[in-house]
Amino acid sequence: MINVRITDNNNKLVHQLFKKIERGPFRRNFHAIKSTIFDLFCAYYVRQNFRFPVMLEIETINRCNNDCPFCPVNVRDDPRKKQLMSEALLEKIALELEKVQFSGFLALYSNNEPLIDQRLSDISAYFRSKLPKAHIYIYTNGKMINYAILTRLIAAGLDQVVIDNYDDSLNLIAPVRKLLEEIEKEQNQALNLDLTVIMRLKNELLANRAGNAPNKTAENIQDYLGYANSGCYLPFTQMVIRPSGQVSKCCNDALGQVTLGDVHSATIEEIWNNPIYTDIRHNLLTRGRKSETLCRTCDVSSVTGMLFKKILAGHQFYNSSNLGRHT
Ligand SMILES: C[S@@+](CC[C@H](N)C(=O)[O-])C[C@H]1O[C@@H](n2cnc3c(N)ncnc32)[C@H](O)[C@@H]1O
Ligand code: SF4
Repeated sequence: MINVRITDNNNKLVHQLFKKIERGPFRRNFHAIKSTIFDLFCAYYVRQNFRFPVMLEIETINRCNNDCPFCPVNVRDDPRKKQLMSEALLEKIALELEKVQFSGFLALYSNNEPLIDQRLSDISAYFRSKLPKAHIYIYTNGKMINYAILTRLIAAGLDQVVIDNYDDSLNLIAPVRKLLEEIEKEQNQALNLDLTVIMRLKNELLANRAGNAPNKTAENIQDYLGYANSGCYLPFTQMVIRPSGQVSKCCNDALGQVTLGDVHSATIEEIWNNPIYTDIRHNLLTRGRKSETLCRTCDVSSVTGMLFKKILAGHQFYNSSNLGRHT
């Protein structure tokens, strides 16, 4: 059964109130409170002492087909050279994850539109065959979605599809509307998937993506200063692999400006525990974002609820007995 959930935060009072505060005269106090809460979350994640990433983003192709003004890789602003991840590299990654029986979060996208990669259902099926317990999912802008594509992804074993439905009038975009009509018509009980549609504004001021969000420029960027002394949980939990095999600092390093290793020449485990990664974690813990390139201009302050919930439930994200010795 396809469980469809449509969410629209834009019309919720709390959401509107937060937006008002964030732009109002008390926004500095708001950032300070948020920063403290955020630090508590960071401290919690740090205590988990993960020896392997628990959230992995694999960008199989580095392209998008949309022009969201808040996103550094939108079609108008993307400066990256087009790249597609090779099958050999996908296989290497999958085998390494299989070795540790990875059961964390595996996103088959990062700073891109995943449906542009026509291999996506084959890639999903391959990772699913190696990782029966991982939570494999995508976020898509839905511009290329249709019922046939969705059912192929379900057959390939995806656990979750989230559609970011970007429209400034908060209407369903045509492909998403058609998809929902077809799901309703087919009522196919044999298909099993959580499908979330999030009603999103396209022209929105969001996080500054470490200084690279095109619509958050020098005039409205000063708020990141409120986070100068904060840590950030991402380098403690998440690894982002680009089509080239390079590992970026995090998903907010959308253009891959900081490279922490290359999956061609080292294992995921080696990169995760290398001195570049460990120095970043140490700096964030002891001196805050101001001590790190990119982090020092970053105002991202969200925490991943789905990860937090799994930790609280005592979930094992990998089999640590299959890892090397911990130093
Ligand atoms: C980079 S997109 C990739 C997946 C897909 N193209 C999409 O838009 O859903 C992943 C998520 O990052 C979010 N995002 C992009 N730029 C952002 C920004 N400046 N601040 C916060 N979130 C951002 C998008 O809205 C989306 O939910
Ligand atoms: S947010 Fe998603 S859909 Fe929008 S430009 Fe970025 S990658 Fe594309």
